[in-house]
Amino acid sequence: MFHHRLKVFAIAAIGAALSLPAAAHADDEVNLYSARQENLIKPLLDDFTRDTGISVNLLTGRADELLQRLRLEGRNSPADVLITVDAGNLHQAKEAGVLSAIESETLDERVPENFRDVDGQWYGLSLRARPIMYNKEQVDPSELSTYEALTDAKWRGRICIRSSSNVYNQSLVAAMIASEGPEAASQWAEGLVANLARPPQGGDRDQIRAAAAGVCDIAIANTYYLGAMLVGDDEAQREAAEQIGVFFPNQDGRGAHVNISGAAVTAHAPNRENAIQLIEYLTSEEAQRWYAEANQEYPVRPDVPASEVLQGFGDFKMDSLNLSLLGEYNAEAVRIMDRAGWP
Ligand SMILES: [Fe+2]
Repeated sequence: MFHHRLKVFAIAAIGAALSLPAAAHADDEVNLYSARQENLIKPLLDDFTRDTGISVNLLTGRADELLQRLRLEGRNSPADVLITVDAGNLHQAKEAGVLSAIESETLDERVPENFRDVDGQWYGLSLRARPIMYNKEQVDPSELSTYEALTDAKWRGRICIRSSSNVYNQSLVAAMIASEGPEAASQWAEGLVANLARPPQGGDRDQIRAAAAGVCDIAIANTYYLGAMLVGDDEAQREAAEQIGVFFPNQDGRGAHVNISGAAVTAHAPNRENAIQLIEYLTSEEAQRWYAEANQEYPVRPDVPASEVLQGFGDFKMDSLNLSLLGEYNAEAVRIMDRAGWP
């Protein structure tokens, strides 16, 4: 049994530079596949082990690699827990049948309903907003209001945003479909593309840097990138980030778009009880505080305060949309972005 698992595991590992959990099943172990980098989660796992005696075998990789791996491994997967980012990715994992529903009063109490799967197949651990960021020299925040208003002709050639192949943008459009309908989302995507300063290139940090450098005046990016740039060691990035203001749009309406990082128990978890215990631990007050701060994200629990840097961005109204809908509208969002010519 043990050898069989290892073999399947090794085959699936080809092409993915990932380390190998020591064993698939033991009373005092849990196997975690994480799309979060090791340094952003390892200290928490060590605390969990100290508290419970359950050791955590950590395997990190890109979100799409981990999902593919779970698919390939199927019943033989040693994975108990998947940690990944974006409700779109969590929904995809659910659709692929690699997750299982869990019942936990603790999780249902701690994680607000809109930040967990309706069937209990995944739970949010932390929140990120995707607001409008602007060059403070070039833009007065009084000129800003909603995502929709960015399609106004006055923003022509002034907006930076990454490619439509990125799940964060797909989820942003999916949220718009869910709230305003596909027609409004199409118009928005077309209007936004018409106002781009340049063809999309790079990640969210690159959009922020471009806005600081005057390539564009507005960037749409996730809050933790700006937070990490502000507290990081890289002086050039810090200086760029200091040029940037954060504007939370749609405050008189549905609220600013938010997304999650989240956790799930796998469909064939060999250490299911330990898996639930680990996810419950990650929603404890202490873990929430550390995890959110290490990632410059907002805790998923409303009763745990955000980091000082994030508090500096100001309080805001979050879109209260049930994030399951981001996954449900993902395919339509991709079609709409394609038709709008969003590269
Ligand atoms: Fe990211």
